[in-house]
This record gives sequence, C-alpha cells and structure tokens, in this order.
Amino acid sequence: MSSTEVAGSGALDPLDEAGVNAAVENALAAFTQASSLEELKEARLAHVGDKSPLSLANRGIGALDKTQKAAAGKILGASRGRVAKALAARTEELEAEDAARILVEEAVDVTAAPRRRRAGARHPLSTLQERVSDIFVGMGWEIAEGPELESEWFNFDALNFKPDHPAREMQDTFFVEPPQAHLLLRTHTSPVQVRSMLERDLPIYVLCPGKVFRTDELDATHTPVFHQFEGLAIDKKLSMADLRGTLEHFARQMFGAEAQIRLRPNYFPFTEPSAELDIWHPGAKGGPQWIEWGGCGMVNPNVLRAAGIDPEEYSGFAFGMGIERTLMFRNEVGDMRDMIEGDVRFSEHFGMEI
Ligand code: PHE
Repeated sequence: MSSTEVAGSGALDPLDEAGVNAAVENALAAFTQASSLEELKEARLAHVGDKSPLSLANRGIGALDKTQKAAAGKILGASRGRVAKALAARTEELEAEDAARILVEEAVDVTAAPRRRRAGARHPLSTLQERVSDIFVGMGWEIAEGPELESEWFNFDALNFKPDHPAREMQDTFFVEPPQAHLLLRTHTSPVQVRSMLERDLPIYVLCPGKVFRTDELDATHTPVFHQFEGLAIDKKLSMADLRGTLEHFARQMFGAEAQIRLRPNYFPFTEPSAELDIWHPGAKGGPQWIEWGGCGMVNPNVLRAAGIDPEEYSGFAFGMGIERTLMFRNEVGDMRDMIEGDVRFSEHFGMEI
C-alpha cells in the first residue's frame, strides 16, 4: 500500500493538526490504560506501529509539495516525539511494577519451618531375607541366585519330576508362551540347586533366596508371587544328621534358644528321604506350639546325576521355606495382603532389624 493511496483513502492528513493531536491523545490514553506490558505492546502496535494513523500520516508527507512538507514535518515530528516519550515512560513504569510483583511472588521465607518429608522404610520381607542370609553366611555358606524365568528342565525335569508327575500340576505353574520354548516362572527356588551344582566347584554350601510364582488367587494366606529360600549342601559323607543339626542351629538363631525342630516323613521328587520340617516356636502368638515351616531331605541321587555329580562319592541335603509364611508366624502378620500393598506404615513398625 503506497502513501498516496493511503492519503486518498481517507487516512489522516499530515497537515490536519487537530486530527494529528487527536491521534496523539488517543495514543497517550491507550498507554495510560494499559495495565500490563502485554497490553502496552498491543497499544504500541495500534498507535505507533506501521499501520497506525500517525505512521500513515508521516508517510503521507512524501506526497506533499516543498512548503507543505516543512509544516507537516514539524507537526508530525513533535507529535510522534510526544507519543514515543509517553510510551517509554509507561514501559518503564510497567517494568518496575512487574519486577516488584515478581519479587513478592518469588520471595523465599528463609525463616519458615521446613516441610516434613516422610522417610521410607525397608520392607520386612527384605530385612527377613537378609537376616536368614546372614545366619548362613555366618556358617560359611554362600548366597546363590538363579533366574525367575526358568526353563522347565531346571524347575522340574532335573529335579526328578517325571513328565507326567502329578506334582507338576500340584505346583500350579505359570507356563510362558510359546509352549515349545518350555519356559515358566519358577514355582520354587529348587532349580537353583541344580544350577549351583552345575556352576560351582564341590563341596557346595549355598543359600538361594528369591521370588517364586504360582497361580494362586491373592487372599490372606496366598499370593501368586512370593519368596522362598533354598538351602543346599553337597559334600562327602553328608547325612540326615547334618541336615538336622543345620536346621536346628538355624531355628534357634531365628526363634530363640528354646526353639526345637521336628522332621515328619514326606515326599518330594528331588529328595530321598524327604521330610516336612516343623518348628517349636516358643514365642508363638497363641502360646508355644509346633508350626509347619518347610520341606527338606537328602538330595535324590537322580538329581546329583542330572548335575553330573557322582552319588557314590558325594551326598547332600536341601531344604526350602517360604519367607512370607515365616514372617507371618514369626512376626505376627495376620494377613499376607499387608505385605504386598506397599503401605509404608506397615513396613515402618518392623524397623531396620528383624
Ligand atoms: N521346593 C519345595 C517346595 O517349594 C521345598 C523343598 C526344598 C523341599 C528343598 C525339599 C527340599 O515346596
């Protein structure tokens, strides 16, 4: 758009002093009314910008003749000077207001009391697992680990479960697709027995704590994900007496000097003979009593053979218990669901030592 067109289309005449003054007054009023830098920017574009009446009038000067040019230049020069000055003054004012507001808004009260942050708490299953591990490390045992996603061979076959053995279904198993891969979520920590025998030099004394999985519904005494610890000792001339002595020492470390253990005959494919382990718990909630604690036995020669160990030369014992169950009767937790909710108030009252 050229200035002549603008002049011809009714734009402000550079020689119209009253009109120019009115445009100046409009601009000054708009600046005063602007209550923020944002609003002032809009007022500036409207009254000082390229398309504002004063700018268009200024551009119109070029089309005037020489004498008129001087007169119009004087009027517009003075007017635009006033407007620019007012804009600068208002900008300064609003900037100062802005700075003052930010100072108040972002003020930090260095004398204010700090906000309390709750510290977390260690989960009692972790502290109990560490306590059990410490007891065995104290006897010179090592800690062993194995994968939670396990091959069927380690979880069942190598442990002497026959292919159609009902125990495979007894332990309700999460099988992992595709079936040809023969993978599952381990149903117990016993596969770590076989892994330890394959990976380690003899003799072996290992404790294997870890997560296990069974297709149980969550209720007060069952959870589909829980923890066990497995013990395995392989050496020359180990007997049931060594198993008994080890478990008795362990029980007394866990439940006090009056604790006793009792073995009742049982069956597991991977131990022979096998036993159910009961503990005489002197501090039980309903008074001292026998409580079923876990399984144990002498490692079945078939398992030793599957791991390449000569059963004529070496023998071994193994045991396995649930950590949740131990926490329940040892520390009087009535409902297993409390252990999996992750509420810090539950964990807090066990403290750092269990
Ligand atoms: N793995 C058995 C279970 O989960 C427990 C066990 C471990 C029994 C070691 C004997 C020896 O029930």
